[in-house]
Parts: sequence; C-alpha cells; structure tokens
Amino acid sequence: MQERSKVPTWHHDAVIYQLHIKAFRDSNRDGFGDFRGLLEKLDYIAELGVTTIWLLPFYPSPLKDDGYDIADYCGVHPNYGTLEDFKEFLAAAHARGLRVITELVINHTSEQHPWFQRARIAPKGSPERDFYVWSDDANRYAGARIIFTDTETSNWSWDPVAQQFYWHRFFSHQPDLNYDNPAVLEAVLDVMRFWLRLGVDGLRLDAIPYLVEREGTNCENLPETHAILRTLRAAMDAEFEDRIFLGEANQWPSDVRPYFGEGDECHMAFHFPVMPRMYMAVAKGDRTPIVDIMAQTPPIPEGCQWAIFLRNHDELTLEMVTDEERDYMYAQYAKDPRMRVNVGIRRRLAPLMDNGRKEIELMHALLMSLPGSPVLYYGDELGMGDNVYLGDRNGVRTPMQWSADRNAGFSSVDSAALYFPVVVDPPYGYQTVNVEAEERTPSSLLHFVRAIVKLRRRYRAFARGTFEPLAPENRHVLAFLRRYDDEVILCVNNVAHHAQYVELDLSEFDGWRPIELWSGNGFPKIGALPYLLTLNTRDFLWFKLEPPGGARRLDAASPVGS
Ligand code: NOJ
Repeated sequence: MQERSKVPTWHHDAVIYQLHIKAFRDSNRDGFGDFRGLLEKLDYIAELGVTTIWLLPFYPSPLKDDGYDIADYCGVHPNYGTLEDFKEFLAAAHARGLRVITELVINHTSEQHPWFQRARIAPKGSPERDFYVWSDDANRYAGARIIFTDTETSNWSWDPVAQQFYWHRFFSHQPDLNYDNPAVLEAVLDVMRFWLRLGVDGLRLDAIPYLVEREGTNCENLPETHAILRTLRAAMDAEFEDRIFLGEANQWPSDVRPYFGEGDECHMAFHFPVMPRMYMAVAKGDRTPIVDIMAQTPPIPEGCQWAIFLRNHDELTLEMVTDEERDYMYAQYAKDPRMRVNVGIRRRLAPLMDNGRKEIELMHALLMSLPGSPVLYYGDELGMGDNVYLGDRNGVRTPMQWSADRNAGFSSVDSAALYFPVVVDPPYGYQTVNVEAEERTPSSLLHFVRAIVKLRRRYRAFARGTFEPLAPENRHVLAFLRRYDDEVILCVNNVAHHAQYVELDLSEFDGWRPIELWSGNGFPKIGALPYLLTLNTRDFLWFKLEPPGGARRLDAASPVGS
C-alpha cells in the first residue's frame, strides 16, 4: 500500500499498463471482460513490474466509441460489473502497490447522456440547452478540422428534436459540452471529485485540445481551454493529495508544452510525435527522425513528465508527421488499405514489426530508455496480433490471450458470444501466443518485457535523467546519455537491419568504465580516443558509466535479453 504525499512524484517513475476491462478477463461468462476478472489477473500485472494501471472507459455507455461515449459519468457499465466491484479492484490494486489512472472524458458525452436528452427539449438559450454547443448555421467554426475523417463529413449534425445543429469534434453521436456555460464546468468538477474521492490516483484527460470553440480559429489549444484546465487542476490540488492529470493532446511538442502550464495544468502529457518517429527510424534504419523530434521537444516544468508509448487502443496516429512522412509510414507499415483508418494505422506492435523479435525488443528498448514514463498496451508484452477485419479501431482490442484453452482462457462462454473473436490465425493465434505458454518459456517475449521493465526501474536516470544525444558519424546508431545526480546511463541502439560499428565521443568520461546493464559485465575503460562499439542487427546496449574507482561489474539483471 502506498502512502499519499501532498505533491505527487510517483508519475515520474511510473511504468504504465493500459488495458480495457472488456478485453482482459470475463469472470461471469457473458462474453465481456469485467472487474472481477481483472481482479483475478492483478498478480499478472504486478508481476510485469509496472507501477500503474490505466483503465480505458468503463462507464455506462451505448459503446459506439468503445465507452468514450459516456451516458453516465458516475457509474459502471453493467457488462463490466458494479461500482462495488470497481472499489474492490481499486483496493486490491493499491494493496499491491499499483496506482490506477481512469478516464475523464470531458470534451463530449454520448447523445444518450441525460444532459443531452434534456438539452434537446429545453428552450433555445436556456441553461439546459446550453450544456452543449448549438447553432442554426452549420458553417460556424469552419476552421476546425475533422478528426474522424473516415466517418464524419462535418463537425455539425442536425438534431430534429432541438431543430438546431450541434457541435461534435468526434462521432456525431458524441455532442461536445459547452464550456462557455459555467454550469458545465461545475458539473465536470463534480465528476472529477467523484472519482478522486473513491481513491483513483490519476485521470487521463481525453481530447483536451478541443474543449472551447472560437470563430476564426482552428478551435484547438485555445487560451480559454487552458483556463478550464487550470480550474480543474486548482480544484484537484486544493481538495486532494498525490493525484495527477495525464493529458491527451495529439499535437506538436510546442503545442503540447502549454498543457503543462507553469506546472499548473497537466502533470503528464503524451508525447505523440515521438511515437511514429520510432517506427520511422526503424524502417529507415536511421536515427534522424528521433533525434530531430527530441530536439524540437521543449523542456517541461519541474513536477511534470512525458508519457511515451508504442501503441495504444487507437490507430497509430499519423497526424503529427509531414505528408511525405505519412506516405512513407503507410508504404512501410500499412500496405493493405484495410490496415488504415482515419489518419493512421490500425495494427499492433508485433505485426507492425513483421513479428521480428529483434525489432520488437529494440522498440521496447527505445520505449524504456527515451525520456518519459513508458506506457505498455495490453497484449503487446506477448506479441499479440490484430484483426484488421474488425471495423474502426477494434482490430487492436481483441481478447487478452491467457492460455491455449477455449477462447484463449479469456472466457468460458460460447465463442460466438464473445464481444470480438480471439485471434486464431498463425503466427499470432492464441494457441501459441498466450501468457501460459510464454511464462513457461524463459526466452519468451513476456519474460523479456518483464526483465526490461525491471531493469529500467533499477536506474532512476531512465525516468528522471537528462536526454543528451551523441552525434556519431554512423547515423544507423542512436546513442544518448541519461544523467541523473551521480548516475550516468549510456544507451546505444542500432536501428538498422545490418551489423554496425560506431565510434562515440565519450572523452568527457576519460578513465571511466562502461558496465553493461543486462550482464553486469565491465567493458574496456573509456579513454581520450573515440570509444568503439559493434552492434549486431537491431541491437541495443545499455551501460552504466562508472567513474574511476567505481564498480568493475554489477549484478546481472536477468538471464533473458539480447
Ligand atoms: C481519444 C480516444 O483515445 C479515442 O479512443 C476516442 O475515440 C476519442 N478520444 C473520442 O473520445
């Protein structure tokens, strides 16, 4: 059980595991995962070595956007259990030292939400109607782009009951709340308090750039939106201890930076642009995309931390790349048009890497060593596959693969009753890719992921250190230092397909000794001349640099690794 401190620091060292209740474990044979099933599997999550669980939306909802269309902010969808089940899960997670982040989806609700049902029949201009953004003219706010380009043609939809258009940045069944109505902010503050009072440790703020609309702008990142966030944050800090906001702002680094405010908005924000650039670097065998985006990443206030990820429940978004880069990504990673959705790619990590073990390990090494708290997406630790024949982004939301038993051990219901079919085809089928099999196999990806998470957590520099890229001539190699207090970590990655040698300028550490972190082995001392390393295909090496007189070797981290 963790103590609560007044000001949170835990997010700096977090390793986050993202999951959907629906997809994790079905305890009552209805075809949907539920909180009781998740409870059964909490030890598995703790064993992974992660510190924090991020739960996708589990509230009452028509589930037309997988729960991001909320019909009741303060309940639990009956498919997933009850509020009591949620409380029990939270207590059990806390008892294992795991923090829990849930979703605060405050840009929009479901059209089924009583606020919207009330708004449609309320008189024009009344406070009830004004909970949402209405217009008689569907040409307002023409500067706002459409996000779900595959399904929506306008951000306005006609409501025959209200006899007006309503504004929605996402699906037409998700009307946007109107933050120009102070009652909306009050209502949302109450929702926030509800979950924080229950003991939730953090809230992911969904789709925050779009809270406020103004004519003549693109309706993203407006000052009024930042003012709302500061109000939420001030209320959280005044009334609760040790809680955090994790902002979802799919924007360029310079536009995300303001979401940290002066340390008075979000504690964490996803670094969206670095994500596709890890894939780009590996496809091109060139470090430049990563180095360039890191150079464009501004410093963030003290107390703040990035969240980085390889994949999540959405498409691998390509909004934060140039047109040319997007074409390149589609050509490399989504040759079949079915693999594309909106402005992105709907595939999981393992298939994106053509199931190449070295590539999957290298991507994890980048995830665990670049600045920010890493977020793992459920199933990727096993190398689970996807199903591009399921609509929307559902292909990456199939049931967790626990064993070779019926329905991958996810549920004992008839297979036809599952919310989605389990992945069956080779090489990703549940018969071989599953927790039980991988636990039994010391060389499995699961064991590797457990080991790399543990290794990262041993050295605080990974979580809190500087990011100091080195500039060796060989651009196939990405090398950087992470420095925190006395700890200096050197990470060297061969992002290319062929073996490389690299000469690193480490003259600053003349007389120091690199100690390789997996094996604990001391490498030759650094001198004044360039330090030579060789790396096999897609290899990565992590070293602790020990000053003269320091350790000559360390305890080995684990028998698993590259
Ligand atoms: C972002 C979520 O990640 C995505 O799944 C959802 O569809 C949109 N927000 C709309 O809520």
